[in-house]
Amino acid sequence: MAIEDREVTVVVNGQERSAAVEPRKLLVHYLRDDLGLTGTHIGCDTSQCGACSIMVNGEAVKSCTMLAVQAEGSEITTVEGLGSIEHLHPMQQSFWEEHGLQCGYCTPGVIMAMLGLLKENPNPSEEEIREGMEGVICRCTGYQFIVSAVQKAAKLMAEAEEQKEETLVANLVREGTHNG
Ligand code: FES
Ligand code: FES
Repeated sequence: MAIEDREVTVVVNGQERSAAVEPRKLLVHYLRDDLGLTGTHIGCDTSQCGACSIMVNGEAVKSCTMLAVQAEGSEITTVEGLGSIEHLHPMQQSFWEEHGLQCGYCTPGVIMAMLGLLKENPNPSEEEIREGMEGVICRCTGYQFIVSAVQKAAKLMAEAEEQKEETLVANLVREGTHNG
């Protein structure tokens, strides 16, 4: 007996998207084949390489370890949702500046996994970054440049956060002056 397709709806990179899929379809295939988001890569069939890492409800997840139907209703960010050519995300900017990639195949997954790491630990030591890289395989870089890129991204993201807070305080002061 054929198993019926199921409609799966997610918010991906801020947009609601739907597709009918076989219940056994993996999330990574749903993203790539049904939603056309091919920035998420597949590098193994053993859940070990991390090339398929994305954010699901704010947490880094290997999208080959989840079924599409399990993602129903969730908020997903893929590498396509991070920055643009004109305005790279600080993590992308840092990979660019620190030469954190060579062939680039692992890069979208590494970037998403490292964003997950910085979310949990915004100021990781080199050792913590290396520990966070467990489960993420890069065959080209020897990892050192990736570590440097993540260190730089942590710094840039902290600076951006600080700047945001300063702007917020300045706006509040300005509003207070106007109202007072
Ligand atoms: S493709 Fe998901 S871990 Fe390798
Ligand atoms: S840059 Fe080639 S696999 Fe990582």
